[in-house]
Amino acid sequence: MNTEPNVPEIPQSTRPSNAVLVVGAGYVGLTTAVCLASLGNFVVCVDNDKSKISSILSGVLPIYEPGLLDLLNTTVNEHKLSFSTDLIEHSKSAEYVFLCLPTPALEDGTSDLSYIFQVVDEISPYLSDDVIIVNKSTVPLNTASQIRKRQSNPSVGVVSNPEFLREGSAVNDFLQPSRIVIGSDSPIIAQRVANLYIGLQDRIYFTDPISAECIKYMSNGFLAMKISFINEAARFCDAVGADIIDVAGGLALDPRIGSAFLNPGPGWGGSCFPKDTSALAATARYMGSPMLLIEESIRANNSHQTDIAKLVVELVNRISEDHPKIAVLGLSFKANTDDIRVSPALKILHLIAQRTHNIQIHSYDPMAKQDETLDFVRSQSLELAIDGADIVVVFTEWDEIAEASPQLFAERMRGNTIVDTRYLYSKDQFQKFNLNVISVGKN
Ligand code: UGA
Repeated sequence: MNTEPNVPEIPQSTRPSNAVLVVGAGYVGLTTAVCLASLGNFVVCVDNDKSKISSILSGVLPIYEPGLLDLLNTTVNEHKLSFSTDLIEHSKSAEYVFLCLPTPALEDGTSDLSYIFQVVDEISPYLSDDVIIVNKSTVPLNTASQIRKRQSNPSVGVVSNPEFLREGSAVNDFLQPSRIVIGSDSPIIAQRVANLYIGLQDRIYFTDPISAECIKYMSNGFLAMKISFINEAARFCDAVGADIIDVAGGLALDPRIGSAFLNPGPGWGGSCFPKDTSALAATARYMGSPMLLIEESIRANNSHQTDIAKLVVELVNRISEDHPKIAVLGLSFKANTDDIRVSPALKILHLIAQRTHNIQIHSYDPMAKQDETLDFVRSQSLELAIDGADIVVVFTEWDEIAEASPQLFAERMRGNTIVDTRYLYSKDQFQKFNLNVISVGKN
């Protein structure tokens, strides 16, 4: 029986010269495959999950990512992109193999490379001369060199080309990148990879493989540190009576500081910052060169989230109702993604649930995936979630949540307290409706 999903035939005449194989149809792999194809390359995206590939072929993506489905349809229709589950078959004809595989965190904070090495070992015997393996996954330092050592064919090149895609704006980040880092010891191989980024040559940054791997970790580490800083500043503002939004606005005007990643919030989360900062801290310790700022940023993030949980618990304890109702708005780790991995909302809700009794939690999120670990009601609409709520806690900055009017809360809620961890609501506007908006650093 042929279990291969129905892959459209590519007419020979329309085949561009660059045969790119993308291994992994997750968030990074799909975005990479679709965007490289949209730049003009011929791309096959392979994943060993048959149901995932079938579902993509039937027009249902495993992730929600704005703009991705439209571009996928366009590139498939133009015969630039196809999907398959047959890794070996497509390895034989590939000129470039992009590794976009999971590298989950291990208990000690380092990353599990088994997916990467398994694929590399499987395909290596089938690769033609001069094929280039391009690693996009976030990997421990020196992984490119370890992949190189596993090749028996000396003409196979290995390049580190880390991704800097934000979930929710991944297509845009790929097609309008701030930089494309290409780490290789060979200028010829590096240039061949650079040539795949058609029209984006001015964004290419060449370096050696280990420096490229380092750039990825340091970028995420630095950004996480910047957010930990502004969240700590928010708590300081509460202590001294300053307004964190005004303070952040003033800081951002200095071009040396800038406004990006200076938004206070419920602490950083997602599938990248927590994993990458832990890996960086663990590697730095292991190498005898600890990165104390990164370690403290992780600690500061945890304590910020614990403080938000304590604040909500304190407010819950003031309610005289037997079964206080808490409405939670937003579950995904940020807006425009359905991803709930290491979501601050879930982390803080777990802490709240541990410290309270008899509360009912009703949540609303327009897109977030289901979470099995918390016992709460998932409401079909924002209105239903806040109906009769004693406290509303806002975790994610979806437009729909940001645009909810004070009238709506005033009409629907039983209580009048809104904990706004994303600074979406105007305290003064809401005060007019007798609603008390509480945000760290604005009290
Ligand atoms: C992050 C990086 O931004 C990407 O460059 C990188 O490629 C990606 O990780 C990765 O390593 O794959 P992402 O995890 O999608 O992207 O999300 P971000 O937009 O960076 O946000 C991370 C967390 O910081 C979220 O919880 C977000 O709400 C929070 N955040 C971000 C703030 O609290 N304040 C800010 O000003 C910005």
